[in-house]
Amino acid sequence: MSSNTFYLQDVLTADQFHKTDLQLMLTVTKKMKKLVETKGGSDLLKGKLMTALFYEPSSRTFASFISAMQRLGGGFIPLQGVSYSSVAKGETLPDTVRTFGCYSDVVVLRHPEVGSAKIAAEFCEKPIINAGDGVGEHPSQALLDFFTISEHFGGVDGLTITMVGDLLNGRTIHSLSKLLSQYKNVTFNFVSPEILRLPSNLIKTFSDRGVKVTQSETLEEVLPRTDVLYVTRVQKERFTDLDLYEKLKYHYIITPQLLRQAKKTAVVMHPLPRVGEITPEVDLDPRAIYITEQMTNGMYVRMALLSLVLLKDYV
Ligand code: CP
Repeated sequence: MSSNTFYLQDVLTADQFHKTDLQLMLTVTKKMKKLVETKGGSDLLKGKLMTALFYEPSSRTFASFISAMQRLGGGFIPLQGVSYSSVAKGETLPDTVRTFGCYSDVVVLRHPEVGSAKIAAEFCEKPIINAGDGVGEHPSQALLDFFTISEHFGGVDGLTITMVGDLLNGRTIHSLSKLLSQYKNVTFNFVSPEILRLPSNLIKTFSDRGVKVTQSETLEEVLPRTDVLYVTRVQKERFTDLDLYEKLKYHYIITPQLLRQAKKTAVVMHPLPRVGEITPEVDLDPRAIYITEQMTNGMYVRMALLSLVLLKDYV
């Protein structure tokens, strides 16, 4: 196995992962999955402590990082919301992360502002893991999405990935597409209302890398040739004009009827939470893997990530 390039590194953007890092992540995540399935966990991270510092709401990312640490025998400082921390008294982000860096070995940060994780990393002595910085990035989600796709299809080469919904504000889309764009024979279809299109700098990056890209407002044309349908919600919390949000929120609704046009081998993914863009009936379709595979894999990937960041000789 290759050397541990994750050891004591900040995890800020999907840009930092190269193919060899992704291969290492796949290998370690598979080990973690087997560990949980056979023994429930281990004491690999005994004596290590993680701070989960979440300025924004979260169910999956928060809980999967906490459970990952517990499954590996480590401890954690859970801050789900900062209203009872000194942030409420006006403490700055640099001072807050410096504080938790004194008491723990790694700080997992979710924050509403783009670039906040990078700033935190400049001030914190311990590794920062970006658990979502506003409309910027969500790199550990990209790792779990990559693992899910790769495990399901036996790799990502040659797949057609259709991403639909709020591509402007969807940080999971930004990180996952960056990561997958390293694989030249992947095709991207970006489907969104005009006003919620993927930022143009990302489209340019993908074109420069030779990735095949289409952009459209309708799903019907690209759905029959899609392997991965990655759905996102329209992000109400990023809108200043709530009337506009109301107009756009149900622009795309994935239903069993719509999925009749999709391949039998396709999968439907969603980072969740969903708020109406996938109807509950779709859950019964075996192609819907957002709960059965994608969400479940979140804990295994975070077990792998924490082990690699905290233990030099793990690999
Ligand atoms: N996928 C994701 O980030 O979900 P949460 O907001 O619940 O953490």
